[in-house]
Amino acid sequence: MEVKTICCIGAGYVGGPTMAVIAEKCPHIKVTVVDLNEKRIAAWNDENLDNIPVYEPGLAAVVGAARGRNLFFSTEVDKAIDEADMIFISVNTPTKTYGVGKGMAADLKYIELCARQIARVAKTDKIVVEKSTLPVRTASAIKDILDHTGNGVNFQILSNPEFLAEGTAVADLHNPDRVLIGGDTTPEGQKAIQALADIYANWVSKDRILTTNVWSSELSKLTANAFLAQRVSSINAMSELCEKTGADVNEVAKAIGMDSRIGPKFLKSSVGFGGSCFQKDILNLVYIAKSYGLNEVADYWEQVIIMNDHQKRRFAKNIISTLYNTVSGKKITFLGWAFKKDTNDTRESAAIYVADDLLSEQAHIAVYDPKVEEEQVYADLNYLETRSEQENKSGVAVHTNPYEACKDSHAIAVLTEWDEFKTYDWQKIYDSMLKPAFVFDGRNLLDKNQLEKIGFVYQSIGS
Ligand code: UDX
Ligand code: ADP
Repeated sequence: MEVKTICCIGAGYVGGPTMAVIAEKCPHIKVTVVDLNEKRIAAWNDENLDNIPVYEPGLAAVVGAARGRNLFFSTEVDKAIDEADMIFISVNTPTKTYGVGKGMAADLKYIELCARQIARVAKTDKIVVEKSTLPVRTASAIKDILDHTGNGVNFQILSNPEFLAEGTAVADLHNPDRVLIGGDTTPEGQKAIQALADIYANWVSKDRILTTNVWSSELSKLTANAFLAQRVSSINAMSELCEKTGADVNEVAKAIGMDSRIGPKFLKSSVGFGGSCFQKDILNLVYIAKSYGLNEVADYWEQVIIMNDHQKRRFAKNIISTLYNTVSGKKITFLGWAFKKDTNDTRESAAIYVADDLLSEQAHIAVYDPKVEEEQVYADLNYLETRSEQENKSGVAVHTNPYEACKDSHAIAVLTEWDEFKTYDWQKIYDSMLKPAFVFDGRNLLDKNQLEKIGFVYQSIGS
């Protein structure tokens, strides 16, 4: 079967970039990305490509090339479902905030709503692809809904997990380590797998397209993220020991990274990992393990999260104790709010939790991030519900100029590893700050020698 029309439900960080690249590489396929959020769709359609809602290096150019040709963004969900041969589900699956599995299980209500909508609208056979990160066995729930509430048409469900990392999404999509497609072992399932593999084969070499059964595919996604997060928590655990012993975590990371069995990637010690996937996926894994009565397995993976929470908290505590055990009324500048560089995504960013701790100690926080909007900073803090919106507003100022953000502050905390921070005039920043002027580098980003020479008291993670 040759796919001619694709619909993607969900125009977020996953759906947007993934569909833009499919449209770019497959001009013969019509790709329509739909979302309930009208503002988001309007932004994807904005004539000025600087205004598309997801910031990713290289994405604006890809969208610019394909939009209006074979790439469309729309709020007409039913119409796009009806027209499509293949439907990707890329809606969000946040951690549940209520009921059974609260704080742990994935909230599948958006997925279920999508499945019901597809079942209601579809009049011809469809291949449905789960793209969002989902707990194992979600495909069977989707299939159940489609088969029992649909119009008697035939659905094939595939799992095609996303391995792109934000900040490098376009490069990851152009040149993936592997593409994973899980499907039924029946002849119809195999045909559906082939149809999706043929799409990727337009730009990905065949040996990188891996096919498995649905459950292996779903679990592989959770496993990959758990292993990556575990590496970060492992090096962060060593960072605290380094600080106590006089070892330097960067030197340790380099030394172990040269062991080809370990490898050099994902060994950068930091204030803690963030992002929409790691924590959510591990909590999911923990929940699934518990639900099968595998308590040791659950505890093992939960420790990765516990370590990460500790790392964020420890960073805030260190700021407070270094500033003579009080930050009350002091201005502390945050350079960076996004969970990593080259993205405007702030979900689960360490900055949010560090700010929360410092606000509880009555600090005044000044935030500068090159890509994060003011309203997002407040939304992130309000979401925690630690204090009122009014209190967050009066405790935090968001700046569009980094030098203004640093002026008259007691300390700077580097929360995101944006490259531009390295190029600042640090002498000018030092001159504008209260003395002694502190830098707490949560990303091991800046040059210790340079800053100390200027006069800063400089502290980084793990040395
Ligand atoms: C991750 C996976 O990498 C990706 O394959 C999956 O599809 C989605 O989840 P993402 O969350 O975009 O991608 O970012 P990633 O680059 O994995 O970083 C996650 C967090 O770990 C960031 O906060 C980052 O700053 C932190 N990190 C990463 C470190 O602290 N140290 C490292 O060495 C690497
Ligand atoms: P991700 O990082 O997984 O892409 P996002 O939150 O950035 O997550 O994007 C998910 C998008 O899915 C949101 O823009 C949301 O409005 C959209 N969405 C959720 N449920 C539906 C639905 N039933 N129909 C259409 N769009 C939906």
